[in-house]
Amino acid sequence: MIVLRNVSKIFDNGKVKLTAVDNVNLTVEQGQIYGIIGYSGAGKSTLIRLLNGLEKPTLGHVTVNGQDISLVKGEALRQARLKISMVFQHFNLLWSRTVRENIAFSMQIAGVPKAKIQTRVDELIELVGLKGRENAWPSQLSGGQKQRVGIARALANNPDVLLCDEATSALDPQTTDQILDLLLDINRRFNLTIVLITHEMHVVRKICDRVAVMEEGKVVEEGEVIKVFTHPQKPITQQFIRQVSQYTEKETFNPELTSELAGTVIKLTFTGHSTHQPVVGELTLRYGLPFNILHGKMTQTAHGVFGQLWLHVQATEEQLNNILADLQQSDIEGEVIKHV
Ligand SMILES: Nc1ncnc2c1ncn2[C@@H]1O[C@H](COP(=O)(O)OP(=O)(O)OP(=O)(O)O)[C@@H](O)[C@H]1O
Ligand SMILES: [Mg+2]
Repeated sequence: MIVLRNVSKIFDNGKVKLTAVDNVNLTVEQGQIYGIIGYSGAGKSTLIRLLNGLEKPTLGHVTVNGQDISLVKGEALRQARLKISMVFQHFNLLWSRTVRENIAFSMQIAGVPKAKIQTRVDELIELVGLKGRENAWPSQLSGGQKQRVGIARALANNPDVLLCDEATSALDPQTTDQILDLLLDINRRFNLTIVLITHEMHVVRKICDRVAVMEEGKVVEEGEVIKVFTHPQKPITQQFIRQVSQYTEKETFNPELTSELAGTVIKLTFTGHSTHQPVVGELTLRYGLPFNILHGKMTQTAHGVFGQLWLHVQATEEQLNNILADLQQSDIEGEVIKHV
């Protein structure tokens, strides 16, 4: 759906050259919610502006829906942009127009017939949960409601891709969650591809399928959300993960605390689908051993739950090997923390 090949964007004002996006390669599949996370100045907004042709890459190619966005110009670019719409952090609503008129605006520009616009606006108002507020002015709306208008407006021309640049950064945590739920609902209902930029790992955890971590213009880490959360490679990724769940080795269970316990301590790492299995129950039944749960932490993502569980059990060497083999069969990572 979206492919970036060796994409760089260098701003050159004649005196200084600034590489805002540095040789980025990434692929977003149809229907995915793809998160791009990074600190301020990492190049996220520049990257997202390359996706709708607002910026041209200095090097490399940006392909959306099979079309090289860096090469299209004029009317073709305008048409392509209608299918790649955007939601902004500060909503960018027209203050002298009502909710209805704001949503209708992009369709008027696109030359949609009047009657069709009215039906579509009604549909969109229903979809984003603004029924009853259609004649309000933006100044009469809460932040969350303003962003609902922003989303409705972005969906008006049935885009193939929705780009969200910090769409929830101006909202409180509760409203953020409501807007994220709305985006997830739209994605699931219409199989709409969403690329969202954020500096909050909470946003990524809650709705994204994949995530790219950006630092100084580069994508330093990329992968499925659950994989990145359970096995973050780069210090910056670990920092972001710490934001949401204190999900770090240091801050979770301290194996030192088990030094008094005789027997075996196993750490189980669950990644997504395995989490719904009654693993501890099955092991207990199979081996007739009482497994004691020492500590556990589970986190919800758009793709199920992941987490870790520390079990204590008195098992023989042979039993332990069988247990580890069983866990592997169930796609659960088992790590022996101690065995005495
Ligand atoms: N039009 C421009 N001309 C020159 N430099 C620019 C331009 N746009 C962005 N930059 C620079 O490129 C770098 C990346 O900026 P960008 O806005 O993409 O970062 P960001 O990750 O979106 O940051 P934030 O989280 O603060 O929005 C910054 O150093 C910025 O100053
Ligand atoms: Mg930005």
